Formats: sequence, C-alpha cells, structure tokens
Amino acid sequence: MTKVLTILGARPQFVKGAVLSRAISKNDHIQEVIVHTGQHFDQKMSDIFFEEMNIPSPDYNLNINSLSHGAMTGRMIEGIEEVILKEKPDALMVYGDTNSTIAGALAAKKLDIKVAHVEAGLRSFNMKMPEEINRILTDRISDLLLCPTQTAIDNLRKEGFDHIAAKIVLTGDIMFDAALYYAKLAQQKSTIIEDLDLSNKDFVLCTVHRQENTDDKNKLASIIQALNEINENTPVVFPLHPRTKKLLQQYNITCHCSIIDPVGYFDMIQLLKRARLVVTDSGGLQKEAYYFQKNSITLREQTEWVELIKNSYSMLTGSDIAKIREAYTIMMSKPTPEIRKELFGDGHSADIMMEALLKI
Ligand code: UD1
Repeated sequence: MTKVLTILGARPQFVKGAVLSRAISKNDHIQEVIVHTGQHFDQKMSDIFFEEMNIPSPDYNLNINSLSHGAMTGRMIEGIEEVILKEKPDALMVYGDTNSTIAGALAAKKLDIKVAHVEAGLRSFNMKMPEEINRILTDRISDLLLCPTQTAIDNLRKEGFDHIAAKIVLTGDIMFDAALYYAKLAQQKSTIIEDLDLSNKDFVLCTVHRQENTDDKNKLASIIQALNEINENTPVVFPLHPRTKKLLQQYNITCHCSIIDPVGYFDMIQLLKRARLVVTDSGGLQKEAYYFQKNSITLREQTEWVELIKNSYSMLTGSDIAKIREAYTIMMSKPTPEIRKELFGDGHSADIMMEALLKI
C-alpha cells in the first residue's frame, strides 16, 4: 500500500485534486491523506469545491492565509513538516505553482520523502511572477515530474533535467479530465445562467487576479477601462477574486461590468459553455475556455500554455488597453476552436498519474 500525502491550498488545486482523489479512492493500492493549507479559505473560494466535487474532507487544515509570501510559505512548511512526521507517507503530491506547492515540496524533500509534482515543467520565463519561482524550485526537488504538455517536457530537458535523478512523465492536462467529467453534473446542478438571466444573451466571461495585474494601479485601471468598453458592446460577467476586489476598492477604480462573487466549479463550467469569449489572466481558465471551445484573451505578457497562442485560440495582451481592444475585435469574429487531443491529452491523465505514483 502506497500512502500519499496530498497538499491542497488554492482554488485550482481543489479542481485538480478532485480528479485524482476520485481515481485514488477506486484503487486498493493507494491511500490518500489530504492536507489543506488554508491558503484559500472562505466558502466561495474553498468549501464549495469540496462540496460540489465530492472531494474527501481534508484530514488536516492548517488555516494559514492572508500573510506575506515569506510568512505564509514558512508557516506552511512548518505545519506540513509536522503532518509528515506523524503520517510517515511514502510520497507527497503537490499541484501547480502556489505557495502551498513549494511549501509542501520543501517540507517533504528535507525529510527525504518522495515528491510528485502535477503540472511540472510549465514556464512563463517571467521571474517576477511568484508562481514561476514556485514552479522552478518545486520541479528541481521533485522525484516524479508529471508534465501536462510536450512543451513542459521540452522545458525540463532544456534546464538539464536529463541529468537529474527524477522521472519525467507526459500525462496530459488533468483539468481536461475535470472539464469532461464534471460538465454533465454542472448541467444538472448549476442554475447560474437562469439566475443571471443570460439564457439568450451573448456575454464575455472575465476573471482577473494575478499579482502582476492587480498590484500595479495603472495596469489594473487599464484592464478595467478596457473591460468597461467591452461591456458597452457585449455584457461582461466578472466573478471577482478577493484580491482584485480589495485592490479595486483601495485604488478607487470603478468597474461597470456585471460583477458577481467568485463562483464554484459547476457555475464556472456553465458560464464557460455559454460565453461568447473569455478574458482572463488565469492559467486554468485559458485552457478551460479552449476545452469548452471558446476563444480567449489572455491578460498576461507570457503564458505557460503556449499551445493556445501558437494555434490562435488565445491572444496575449498584457494590461495594454490598445492590445485588449484589438484582440477583442479579432477574437469576436473568429470561428470557435476545435479540440485537438495532441495538445493537452485525451482527458485520461489521472490514470497515467496513478500508474506513475504506484511506481514512485
Ligand atoms: C493564489 C496563487 C496563484 C493561483 C491563485 C488561484 C500563490 C503565490 N498564488 O493567488 O498561483 O493562481 O491562488 O486563485 O500562491 N483571499 C480571500 N479569501 C480566500 C482566499 C484569498 O479573501 O478564500 C484573499 C487573501 O486574504 C489575499 C488575497 O485574497 O489577500 C490573495 O490571496 P493569496 O492566497 O495571496 O493569492 P491568490 O491571489 O489567490
């Protein structure tokens, strides 16, 4: 029996974790212990995902949030270390690029516990992003690198990972598994389209939360001005992340879009299915737009998911208002994308991950 300690902390990790937890629960050879770091903590950013997606309740909740990067990461390392010493797992699994990810990997590696990293090898090549730092460091100390794309594998090879004693596996994107599996349930359970009276309307779906866009007042103002303009033509539905909400108030920036609270995964799927276009700085939503065959505008200077740009399913604009305007015009008149399995796998990445985990 392999005992795996899974570290979850932020919204996208709950979505990815749900898929793998379901696969693990069906396999008699693996046991999972879940640690929630507490990084995302309120009903709409955390609990709703556990409820809707049937994720087993965390065995531990460290309740660490709303701190500076150093304090948050440091306290998480301390908390996770304690759990590892108590649970003595065979491996620790981390997802993505958050402070919870690097904290888990560091705590485990220093105790000589094998680390598996889901979404290994992704790079934006922007070292100003906290996420890029978290990814690079996590990859370097992981034993099992579960890569969602061939680009991710190529990135690791270029960084010399062929000479590092770590196993690299091409898995496909676990968020594609999630999109396929939960789409039917979302259809049955979510009423958001009716609630927001969007049934017969064209609308743009937007999210903004990245530090690089929200912390700088001018950049945030430019993005919001662009969204206000788009909203004059096509209503913009904007589930507002708490970080962005706080900073809009602090900077006194007025947004005329249809602002709603953060939504759960089922509501997000329904919004994605019906949206005309997606505008986002989220790594996950860029791809989810594609999985629901929507074009997108990526409010970043670079992306880890270069396949979307190369195939013209998305355009990179950063926070530049002229670029966002231009991308809006182009993307609104483009045909919707076709799903190509060679880009992000066939929706069975959890099976590949399980097989690799059993051999760790
Ligand atoms: C984090 C991750 C980012 C990921 C994102 C997903 C890092 C460095 N960043 O960014 O990679 O894409 O999660 O959403 O780990 N807050 C609440 N309620 C919550 C959660 C957060 O009010 O449930 C507030 C916090 O108090 C904080 C702000 O939102 O003031 C930002 O939260 P934080 O965890 O620092 O990072 P995110 O921007 O969510």
